[in-house]
Amino acid sequence: MEIIAETFNSPAANGRTAERARLGAIAVVGLGYWGPNWVRNIHQSGCAERVVACDLDAGRRDRIAHLYPATRVTSHFDRVLADPEVEAVIIATPVGTHYEMARRALEADKSVLVEKPLATSPAEAAELVALARERERVLMVGHTFEYSAPVLKLRDIIASGELGEIFYVSSTRANLGLLQHDVNVAWDLAVHDISIILMALGQMPERVSCHGESHYRRGIEDVALLTLHFSRGVIAFIHVSWLDPNKIRRTTVVGSRKMLVYDDTAPQEKIRIYDKRVDVQRYYDTFSDFQYSYRYGDIQIPRIEETEPLRLECEHFVDCIRTGATPRTDGLCGLRVVSVLHAASASLRDGGRLTPVEVPRVALR
Ligand SMILES: NC(=O)c1ccc[n+]([C@@H]2O[C@H](COP(=O)([O-])OP(=O)(O)OC[C@H]3O[C@@H](n4cnc5c(N)ncnc54)[C@H](O)[C@@H]3O)[C@@H](O)[C@H]2O)c1
Repeated sequence: MEIIAETFNSPAANGRTAERARLGAIAVVGLGYWGPNWVRNIHQSGCAERVVACDLDAGRRDRIAHLYPATRVTSHFDRVLADPEVEAVIIATPVGTHYEMARRALEADKSVLVEKPLATSPAEAAELVALARERERVLMVGHTFEYSAPVLKLRDIIASGELGEIFYVSSTRANLGLLQHDVNVAWDLAVHDISIILMALGQMPERVSCHGESHYRRGIEDVALLTLHFSRGVIAFIHVSWLDPNKIRRTTVVGSRKMLVYDDTAPQEKIRIYDKRVDVQRYYDTFSDFQYSYRYGDIQIPRIEETEPLRLECEHFVDCIRTGATPRTDGLCGLRVVSVLHAASASLRDGGRLTPVEVPRVALR
């Protein structure tokens, strides 16, 4: 039995791979709000000879067929799996269907990209990772923000040590809607913040607490606050809401030397680095006391070249299939995020109790 180590991918592996070749056909399953973005990016990037688009809803299939006449549309997932030209399947269906559809696609020897979150439980996610290994197929998860230039910049700035020792991260992702009916706001929105924070800090939280309330749909929280406790006192707060008058996508990283604010809603200048900090000196008159002074330095705005993250994600998926490289957001990455969400759900049900995050070991037969 082989055990896959739960390591983070190294930043060095994050560059775009050089090789680019077209696949025979890529299938996109789920043509609701998000799936059509995949269809568009596959067409625009030209990374497949053919696109197969699958949805149960005839209106959604017709819309895609009208926009992209070369696309073959079907309502049958079975037909997608039986098509020998389809090398890869992108699953953009509701979260509750991810595991089953990904499992069946891997069993049909397709490479699979599953939209976030990878599955609804760590056990399911671990099973998909193991299956992809056994079948020697690529399993990737749609953590889109890990392909976003400002997020990669944020990660590089933290890694460079410019901010000093990281004290805490505070992230808010709020808007009016879109209310979901199968998952709560943490599984819908905080999944992005968790993936960003795990990548940026390069470590897993040890414990998580979560508070939330549902106001519209019983049992489906529409507002939540997650607290992630990392080693050495590093803490991250994630506030997510479908009930906010403003669209907020803001992450603040506070370090011992500098502070950074990433505002994804800003049209430009999404990252600002503040040369602000607290300096501490011993106050020698009363030996045990400290004296604080506050530094108010310049604000630096790094230049960031942006490309649509989904386009990069799409090309990376195809590169990995072609070259056998491990995706930056591979199944293990999806498993880690699902494990944090799972612990958060347990905490939520238990009144916000601090809950250990456990990532199941992935065992291959
Ligand atoms: N990466 C991102 O930034 C991002 C953004 C939005 C949504 N998403 C993810 O994309 C996925 C879909 O979200 P959405 O908002 O588009 O949902 P949606 O409800 O708008 O669309 C889902 C579609 O899947 C179809 N579908 C359901 N079961 C099917 C089946 N068995 N066979 C074929 N089609 C089926 C439905 O008919 C529907 O058209 C979710 O996992 C969500 O988390 C990701």
